[in-house]
Amino acid sequence: MSGSQQSQKHRPEVGTTQPNASGHVEIDGVRLKLSHPYEAAGQWIGQQEVLMQLLACWISVDDSDLPLTPRLIGSPGVGKTQLAIAAAKAQGRPLYIYQCTADTRPEDLLITPVLSQGGEIAYHASPLVTAMITGGICILDEGNRMNEKSWASLAPLLDGRRYVESIVAGITIHAEKEFRATVTMNQDESTFEIPDYIMSRLQPTLSVGFPSKQDEMSILQYHLPFAQPEMLAMTVEFLQHSHELKLDFSPRDGINLLRFAIKRMMQDKNHPISADEAWQEALEKCLGEEAVDLESLAQRRKRTLGGDAVPLGLADLFFDPDDPLHPDRDDDDDDDDDDL
Ligand SMILES: Nc1ncnc2c1ncn2[C@@H]1O[C@H](COP(=O)(O)OP(=O)(O)OP(=O)(O)O)[C@@H](O)[C@H]1O
Ligand SMILES: [Mg+2]
Repeated sequence: MSGSQQSQKHRPEVGTTQPNASGHVEIDGVRLKLSHPYEAAGQWIGQQEVLMQLLACWISVDDSDLPLTPRLIGSPGVGKTQLAIAAAKAQGRPLYIYQCTADTRPEDLLITPVLSQGGEIAYHASPLVTAMITGGICILDEGNRMNEKSWASLAPLLDGRRYVESIVAGITIHAEKEFRATVTMNQDESTFEIPDYIMSRLQPTLSVGFPSKQDEMSILQYHLPFAQPEMLAMTVEFLQHSHELKLDFSPRDGINLLRFAIKRMMQDKNHPISADEAWQEALEKCLGEEAVDLESLAQRRKRTLGGDAVPLGLADLFFDPDDPLHPDRDDDDDDDDDDL
C-alpha cells in the first residue's frame, strides 16, 4: 500500500472540518468560504527524475512520518510551475495555487475578511488554507516574490506543527493529514531573500533544467499541435542553440514565438507571409533584436558577467596595462628579452 493510501484512512486532525455543499466550513465557530481548486490539465514532458523527486517528497512512509515541502528552482519559463501542477495532478488530490507577490500580506495568505452584501463580515480562506482544510495540494507559486513577514506566518505550517494562526479570524487551522505543498522560486531582481529559518523548512531544492532536444520538440508539439513541422524544427534548433550558449531562452519563449509566427502567417490569406519571414519577425518581436544573433549575445553576456575579466586595480583606471609607468606592470618579460 502506498504512503498516500495509508494516510487517507487517517481522519482530519483536530480543528478541521469537511466543506458543506456551498463550499463553507466552520472552524471554532468561524464560518469560512473556501477557494476553488485549479482544474486545468497539466502534463509534464521529459525530465522524469525531477518529477519523481517531487512526488517522493510528498510520500508518507509511516503514520509518524511528515511530508516535505520542496522548492523548485530554475530559469524563467523553464517549467517549474508546470512541473508542480503535473505532480499535483498525478496525486489525484485537489490542487490550489497561490500566486505570491511583493504585496502579499500574511492575512492574504491565510484568511481575508470581506464585507458581504448583508453588511456582515465574511471570511474567505486562501487557496493555501483551503488546501490545508480539504487535504489538497498547494503550490506557492513564485514564493520568493513574497516578503519575510508573510513567510513568517507559515513557519509553524512548514515544520512538524502543521498549523497556521489567523489573527484576522482569531482561529488556529490545522492541516489535514493529506495536505501537501511545494514552492516555486524565481531568479530575477524582483525577488526577496528568504530568511534561513524558512529556507531550512523548504527542503529539498529541486532544480528544473532546460529540456533535451527531443523533449523540447514534444513540449512545443503538445502546446501547439497545429504548428507546421518545419516551424517547430526551427524553434527547437534555436532553443537548443541558446541552451548550449547558456542563454536564458526557455520553452515558454519558444511557445510565444511560435504562436505569434503562426498567427501572422494565417492573418492574410491573400498575401501570405512565408514561414521563414514570419518566424524571423516573431523572433525579433517576442525575444528582442539581440536574439537574432545568439553568438554575439552570449559573448556580451559573458563579458557583463565578468567571465573573462581580470580584476582591475586602482592603477588600471589611470594607465594602460602596457604603459611603462603602470605601477603593477610585470617587467619580467622585458628582462627576459634583454637577456637574449
Ligand atoms: N516539461 C514540460 N512539459 C510540458 N510543458 C512544459 C514543460 N516545460 C515547460 N512547459 C511549458 O512552458 C511554459 C512555461 O512553463 P512554466 O510557466 O511552468 O515556467 P516557470 O519555470 O514556472 O516560469 P517562471 O519562472 O516565469 O515562473 C508553460 O506553457 C509550460 O506548460
Ligand atoms: Mg512559474
